[in-house]
Amino acid sequence: MEPLHSCLLTLFLIVFLASLSVSEVAAGFLNFPPSGPFVPPDCYLIDCGSSHPTILQDGRRFQSDHDSSSLLSTGKDVFASVDSVHVGNSSPYLSSLPLFQTARIFTDESVYSFGISSPGFHWVRLYFYPVPHPSYNLSNAIFTVSANGVVLFCGFMPKKELPQVMVKEYLINTTSSSSSSNKLTLKFTPAKNSFSFVNAIEIVSMPESLISDTASSIRPLGDFSGLSWYAFEVVYRLNIGGTTISPSDDTLFRLWQPDNPFMTFPEGARNLSFPPGEINYPGQGANPHIAPNGVYASAITMADSQVNQQKFNLTWEMNVNSGFSYLIRLHFCDIVSKSLNELYFDVYINGKIGVSGLDLSSLTGRLATAYYRDFVVDSSALINSSIMVQVGPSSSIDSSLGNAILNGLEILKMSNSVRSLDSSSRFDPIPGPGTIKMKIFGTVLLVMAIIAMVFLAMALVRIRKKRDSDWKYGKSFSSWLPLNTSKASLSSSRSSYRSTFLASSKSKSGYSSFFASAGFGRLFTFKELQEATQNFDEKAMIGVGGFGKVYLGTLEDGSKVAIKRGNPKSQQGINEFQTEIQMLSRVRHRHLVSLIGYCDDNSEMILVYEYMSNGPLRDHLYGSNRPLLSWKQRLEICIGAARGLHYLHTGAAHGIIHRDVKTTNVLLDENLVAKVSDFGLSKAAPEMEQTHVSTAVKGSFGYLDPEYFRRQQLSDKSDVYSFGVVLFEVICARPAIDPALPREQVSLAEWAMKWQRKEMLEKIIDPHLAGKFCPESLRKYAEAAEKCLAEYGVDRPAMSDVLWKLESALQLQEAASRVNPSEGELQV
Ligand SMILES: *[C@@H]1O[C@H](CO)[C@@H](O)[C@H](O)[C@H]1NC(C)=O
Ligand SMILES: *[C@@H]1O[C@H](CO)[C@@H](O)[C@H](O)[C@H]1NC(C)=O
Ligand SMILES: *[C@@H]1O[C@H](CO)[C@@H](O)[C@H](O)[C@H]1NC(C)=O
Ligand SMILES: *[C@@H]1O[C@H](CO)[C@@H](O)[C@H](O)[C@H]1NC(C)=O
Ligand SMILES: *[C@@H]1O[C@H](CO)[C@@H](O)[C@H](O)[C@H]1NC(C)=O
Repeated sequence: MEPLHSCLLTLFLIVFLASLSVSEVAAGFLNFPPSGPFVPPDCYLIDCGSSHPTILQDGRRFQSDHDSSSLLSTGKDVFASVDSVHVGNSSPYLSSLPLFQTARIFTDESVYSFGISSPGFHWVRLYFYPVPHPSYNLSNAIFTVSANGVVLFCGFMPKKELPQVMVKEYLINTTSSSSSSNKLTLKFTPAKNSFSFVNAIEIVSMPESLISDTASSIRPLGDFSGLSWYAFEVVYRLNIGGTTISPSDDTLFRLWQPDNPFMTFPEGARNLSFPPGEINYPGQGANPHIAPNGVYASAITMADSQVNQQKFNLTWEMNVNSGFSYLIRLHFCDIVSKSLNELYFDVYINGKIGVSGLDLSSLTGRLATAYYRDFVVDSSALINSSIMVQVGPSSSIDSSLGNAILNGLEILKMSNSVRSLDSSSRFDPIPGPGTIKMKIFGTVLLVMAIIAMVFLAMALVRIRKKRDSDWKYGKSFSSWLPLNTSKASLSSSRSSYRSTFLASSKSKSGYSSFFASAGFGRLFTFKELQEATQNFDEKAMIGVGGFGKVYLGTLEDGSKVAIKRGNPKSQQGINEFQTEIQMLSRVRHRHLVSLIGYCDDNSEMILVYEYMSNGPLRDHLYGSNRPLLSWKQRLEICIGAARGLHYLHTGAAHGIIHRDVKTTNVLLDENLVAKVSDFGLSKAAPEMEQTHVSTAVKGSFGYLDPEYFRRQQLSDKSDVYSFGVVLFEVICARPAIDPALPREQVSLAEWAMKWQRKEMLEKIIDPHLAGKFCPESLRKYAEAAEKCLAEYGVDRPAMSDVLWKLESALQLQEAASRVNPSEGELQV
């Protein structure tokens, strides 16, 4: 392909030179910049899950999974493959089909780490197709992918596009990331109990000229600078008035699609085409890397422009996600005029003027010459989640021809203020130019670090003084145990975890004896727990979590316990083990699952809890054979869980934020008393004057506080949000996220709030409850749930208020059942 390309180019050059007059050469337009194909300094092409390299028709060689294994750190290997993938004949990915035939499935967090020799923007292209696999249904995978800390996407695969093949394309500037500039790390993180997968990966350097740092901003009109600070996702790349240009026909392997689905009034438009070889590239600005000549050689202009003096715009409308700003690149090339200075037109973006009286002749000095303009549209300027691009005859310049033209259109989503390209962060304004932002960020970090060090020093001094006298159960322990479960400490290895412990406790006998002496309950031997579970028999398993497996065990005295055995390979596990012991040591409460003891023999991380024979709350709501709960029982359970959370937030020494409140973390004992469990992600709540803790986002999809997600600032109001989702889940008896449902119903929080706002929640509640509750009680309850889901944490009630509301809902129910005993009972 490439030799052919340069050959054509040379041929064309000779022909053209021969036909040129001297003055034209002097004008300098023949300055063919980057001649020849671009050779990317960094180029990683991987056909994931494939046992052999794959060579595409365009000559690119994707290395096999085995050849790329040194780039990847992952737990378990699972591969999936299929003999053939079927797509329509018109699919732009026909030439890439072999890449979709195999996939690699990751059950744990997995990281590709690519060495970068030339910093700057890189393309990250990810290929997805749900290859059938006997034990994993890839259509249901829920996972997050991030590159150098930028979230590329998060959640489940869009159902609409699957089982179609899909390629997602991103631009990541490796220099502007916080991590080192000579690495690009691509991280796949499955949601709890889910997994991730990918069919192929491309990491390729982008020519430097492709993105500049500045663009015109629309509303406020002006200049926008700092583009290189952002990460981008390509959402639309259209060859206006032309046909598909597939990756194999673009020297930079981009895909250009036809624009017809987006034209709002095709009757008023006319397709134009021009011999691609006759498109000129000026010395400055557009060059063949910006867009191939096939893009500039086709266009749309106004139909019958010469006949009537037309007064309308050519309009394209594209749907985008709201909450993000977009970089829009418009490609122009005057292939319609017969002579210079005939064409003047206006460009509008979302109804706002972008360029008034655009005069291509004066900008390029000749016809059929490539030109492009970049615009940034702020998220606040999006109307109905769409971007509208319009071109129309100039209103200010009286031109001979009322005409307008557009040749190409690219829309790139810009990362938001938490460096994410996908999140529930819907309302982030554009942050200022990167440099300012980074400076502020740096200063804040520095100040925080200093404060933290001062506190640490003070705490250490205090502990030294108190250590011998005050080693009672949990006291002052929290002030020096590493509380930070952020990325930095997540990446610390097990050995450094141990040494931190040893160093800080200054105990020669290791941390186990330290734990025991600090009142962490019983220290079990591994043998004791082996006996209690018949050597961790799979039959004794009662659950699996992010941390590891949970077994039902019977101790020598006959008492039943739940035994949670950490996966020794899991880095996260170490942290959670540590956090959970630390947290549980500080809390004892009727509505919190208590820790009985632990075991750390032979690098094991095992926690022993009281056994909750009725299992998770979720199983009593849907999806299992457990007897269903009456309205009154549901109220009592919610009140119990609310008490547990209220105690966590306010009762313990500093208050604790649970971070992972959901129906599987509310367990029921033999009397259906609710107890909150799983403190693996917990975090100590902020000290008085601070109102939040900054942290990497953790938790479960469907329950995540949007504000926490957006700002990465955790407060006890994040738990209140999740608890609100639990309340709706209890009354609607359906999962917080159910990807199988129609789009507007997938998220319970959104769906239930929609009905609650209309005061018609009864329409979607558990049919088993119908007629078996007191309406006032339900109303009170729904009000509490609604308040919990307020968009902003400050507007959400404290757990004590929620508790109070739920208790009055229970009282209303009890009063009603005294009058009418059949209400509140559930007959199944
Ligand atoms: C990437 O970002 C850095 C720092 O913001 C900037 O200096 C550099 O020019 C950017 N690279 C590109 C290709 O824009
Ligand atoms: C995978 O899940 C999707 C959506 O839930 C479903 O439509 C499909 O039938 C499942 N495929 C298999 C092989 O189970
Ligand atoms: C332009 O051409 C494409 C493909 O040839 C066609 O689908 C489209 O309808 C045409 N548009 C107009 C406005 O004529
Ligand atoms: C083109 O669209 C802009 C913005 O939507 C509008 O202000 C202008 O009047 C339109 N021009 C014509 C000729 O309709
Ligand atoms: C937004 O969508 C609504 C409903 O579809 C429509 O009535 C309204 O006119 C649209 N607004 C704009 C500015 O397009």
